[in-house]
Amino acid sequence: MQALHSIPLSRGICATHQFYAFREGGEGSDAAGYHAPPPLHAMSDPDATDPAPEPAGPPYRHIRSFAMRRGHITHGQRRAVEQWFAAFGVPYAPQPLDFGQVFGRRAPVVLEIGFGMGETTAAIAQSRPDVDFLGVEVFTAGVGALLKRIDELALANVRIVHHDAVEVVRDMIPPDALAGVHIYFPDPWPKKRHHKRRLVAQPFIGLLASRIAPGGYLHCATDWEDYANQMLEVLGGEPQLVNTADGFAKEPANPLCRRPTTKFNARGERLGHGTWDLVFIRR
Ligand SMILES: C[S@@+](CC[C@H](N)C(=O)[O-])C[C@H]1O[C@@H](n2cnc3c(N)ncnc32)[C@H](O)[C@@H]1O
Repeated sequence: MQALHSIPLSRGICATHQFYAFREGGEGSDAAGYHAPPPLHAMSDPDATDPAPEPAGPPYRHIRSFAMRRGHITHGQRRAVEQWFAAFGVPYAPQPLDFGQVFGRRAPVVLEIGFGMGETTAAIAQSRPDVDFLGVEVFTAGVGALLKRIDELALANVRIVHHDAVEVVRDMIPPDALAGVHIYFPDPWPKKRHHKRRLVAQPFIGLLASRIAPGGYLHCATDWEDYANQMLEVLGGEPQLVNTADGFAKEPANPLCRRPTTKFNARGERLGHGTWDLVFIRR
């Protein structure tokens, strides 16, 4: 298993970018550089083009794949957070989760990183009541949006962690525990100087692979060709993983990997981007 402290130290990241971006509010950092979950008003900033300057202060534990800003959350999303987070949210804590306790039963658990507004999560979870889904998202409005769907669709098999997925995977997911992982349309960070913020990169993928049970899968999708190629290189080079396809996966064989079109998927299609899926299995 990849050592947790192999996640490199870097100076603090406080970034925005032009696609699905966030700017960190500054609250939540303690003297040791640890970041608490983003505040409830943290939102994406689709108009931002560049990361904000790195703040002064102690080093953070790893480069963030997102950036935070204060922003808009609808009344309904905020109400859903206030009303439902206690029931369906799992507060971040640096200790391994007991999935039996979290979901109230023993079933295969699929982790989704960066579920955005949660439409895909809810659709897949509704179609697979026999599987439990743990969604991780830093975007507060997205957390509210998925909580609303959980309520409206009466989903019993979805739980949410409102926190940086790198820390959640590192601290809360036991080794060999997951039946699968979904990473759908992660922030592309298209500028070369921002590529270091991409989520599908080492050492995170080695850590993530160690949390998947042997025979479990990792399904990534992107509409950015050069990120797709990076994903293929990173996943193909990870010794714990083996590709289910010769390159990109055209028709993922596992039914859980037949994802509905996501919001950012649709956006990519509108912009004339292609879509690339990758499905790898944990050895
Ligand atoms: C481009 S959106 C895609 C959302 C959704 N998967 C879709 O396809 O519509 C990427 C999402 O990943 C989230 N994200 C990025 N880095 C994250 C991290 N380290 N932990 C949790 N969420 C993260 C962002 O907040 C954003 O909502």
